[in-house]
Amino acid sequence: MTAYLQGKNIVVTGAGNGIGRAIALGCAAAGANVVVADYGVSLAGSDPSSEVADAVVAEIEAAGGTALALASDISTMEGGSAAVQAAVDTWGSIDGAVCVAGILRERMIFNMTEEEFDDVIRVHLKGHFTVYKHASAIMRKQETGGSLVGITSGAFTGSTSQCNYSAAKGGIISLTKSAALALKRYGINANCIAPSAKTRMSENVPFEIEAGEPEDVAPLAVYLLSDQARDITAQVYTVVGPRISVWAQFGEVRSMFAPGSSWTPEGIEEALPRTVGTEEHPTMAMLAAQAAQRQAAQGS
Ligand SMILES: NC(=O)c1ccc[n+]([C@@H]2O[C@H](COP(=O)([O-])OP(=O)(O)OC[C@H]3O[C@@H](n4cnc5c(N)ncnc54)[C@H](O)[C@@H]3O)[C@@H](O)[C@H]2O)c1
Repeated sequence: MTAYLQGKNIVVTGAGNGIGRAIALGCAAAGANVVVADYGVSLAGSDPSSEVADAVVAEIEAAGGTALALASDISTMEGGSAAVQAAVDTWGSIDGAVCVAGILRERMIFNMTEEEFDDVIRVHLKGHFTVYKHASAIMRKQETGGSLVGITSGAFTGSTSQCNYSAAKGGIISLTKSAALALKRYGINANCIAPSAKTRMSENVPFEIEAGEPEDVAPLAVYLLSDQARDITAQVYTVVGPRISVWAQFGEVRSMFAPGSSWTPEGIEEALPRTVGTEEHPTMAMLAAQAAQRQAAQGS
């Protein structure tokens, strides 16, 4: 990765642990000056500390790179602005941002509190907006292009006990695609990565998942931040271990038209199952298999 981002100034949020740390180290190894923005909180978002950001900066400096630590809460407008401004104040410009900060509050939807819902949306989804907004405002004026990278998850398609997280991750894709459309004319690209890696966040997943290492995610982030990828925008890439996959763009697959000027419920009941039909949700089959297993276990 040597010199891939030489001279670029990059903000990485959530850079104190796991995937963010690996991306920050990867960006620095590729020649970037890196703002290591991390509030140093627990998995649930409590007990902030500046220690993790400081530790990653020390690691980068020990390897000969350049970085600065910022223990700001990027879910606030001030925190997002401070992370971007730190790059501008210290190194003169901002060239890219990767939004990795995240927390978890898992609970079934009928038990989830308003606070659990709001906190997860705030850190993940708003935590992207606060950085994207401030970074794009400055990049637009700089007239040298730039790059935004969001971190989503395959859980955006729906997650049984994480409706807050799933909704935030879906929102991050919509936010990032909106940024891609709005910023194309300024030479700024915006893409999402959906990683799967062994970190404190993934260690308690109650079922078997395909997971690589945090370090597997860094090369894709570095590539998307680089000038070489500037024409790639509005994309979502999975990265897990050695596999990188691109997600389809969302779109309608089949239509039906009312025989008259509009539909009636009866007309829809008659036509829908045999025409536009439904699209199978990939997780439903797994849930059905689990339910069958539970039933069989109760019966035996
Ligand atoms: N680990 C996986 O397999 C996996 C899968 C899909 C998506 N992701 C996403 O990747 C990202 C990183 O996950 P991870 O597994 O490395 O988690 P992690 O818990 O190891 O790291 C998250 C970091 O975010 C920081 N953070 C939390 N709230 C913050 C805030 N308000 N301001 C600034 N920093 C804050 C934490 O201090 C922590 O250092 C998350 O967005 C997560 O949803 C991870």
